[in-house]
Amino acid sequence: MRSLLFVPGDSDRKLAKALSSGADALILDLEDSVALDRKAEARAMIRDFIASAKGQEKRPRLYVRINSLNTDFWSADLEGVMPAGPDGIILPKPRSGEDVHRLSLALDHAEEAAGLKLGSTRIIAITTEVPICVLNMPSFIGSSTRLEGLTWGAEDLSAEIGSTATREPNGALTSPYRLARDLCLFTAVSAGVQPIDTVFIDFRDQDGLRAEAAAAARDGFTGKLAIHPDQVAIINEAFTPSQREIDHARDIIAMFAASPDAGVISLNGRMYDRPHLTRAERVLARAGLANKE
Ligand code: COA
Ligand code: MG
Repeated sequence: MRSLLFVPGDSDRKLAKALSSGADALILDLEDSVALDRKAEARAMIRDFIASAKGQEKRPRLYVRINSLNTDFWSADLEGVMPAGPDGIILPKPRSGEDVHRLSLALDHAEEAAGLKLGSTRIIAITTEVPICVLNMPSFIGSSTRLEGLTWGAEDLSAEIGSTATREPNGALTSPYRLARDLCLFTAVSAGVQPIDTVFIDFRDQDGLRAEAAAAARDGFTGKLAIHPDQVAIINEAFTPSQREIDHARDIIAMFAASPDAGVISLNGRMYDRPHLTRAERVLARAGLANKE
């Protein structure tokens, strides 16, 4: 999944628009973008939306962001949406991998009640939204077989720690947020799940988004959250390997295949060894992923 678009769960207009946005996944939101007195209505709207979208042949993957496990809402959120069988649940503000485990147990029950295949609902956690989570990152590794991806949040973290900004005047993330981002990347890769970069909130700044998405793809993230349909194509492009990257990866793989005993090869005056082969294989895997949906 290259692009995951947030859609406020109580907006008919945005739900309708989201299906044709080109996003690989939609995150139907019950948390921050839905006011307290609209949560019940949003649950019903999301359930109906998923039920009807699931019948469509070519559709994005459908996730629901529930409220955090520290609230009184999350159980009712699951009760409200699980009968429609979403592809996964997005967990905000976990304190550690223990919260992923708790959610996973609740999903066991919800799946049984809804007649869904046990274990079929995946989990993506939004890490680093609370400071203690930054300190607990290794606990996400092995927290649940349902875990499919890890992303990270800067806005809630800044409110918690009292930063007045998350970025330098030139747009670069400040030190606490670079740490959060980089820990998310290392943790997701260690857990064998998808590393997903956070939102870029200045949704009219397309050049800024393009640069940030390119940097994320360069560093190893394989997708990025979106908040506006205009961001989707830019994100998809950034996380789709270019023909040049694919050709280069194929050359490296072919060179190693031609000399299976070689630990190192040379190509166009540069040295390539085993890590480069692994990287080349990842590029092709990502190209396959990107073509899937
Ligand atoms: N999903 C689906 N459709 C969206 C959308 C989204 N996230 N954001 C905007 N749209 C739609 C609008 O409804 C509008 O469609 P319309 O012309 O049929 O009414 C069109 O895209 C253009 O929107 P625009 O006027 O440029 O933006 P806006 O001022 O209406 O909305 C936001 C701006 C930020 C409020 C909106 O993008 C949004 O709600 N984003 C998601 C917020 C969210 O979920 N936050 C929580 C995670 S951080
Ligand atoms: Mg938030």
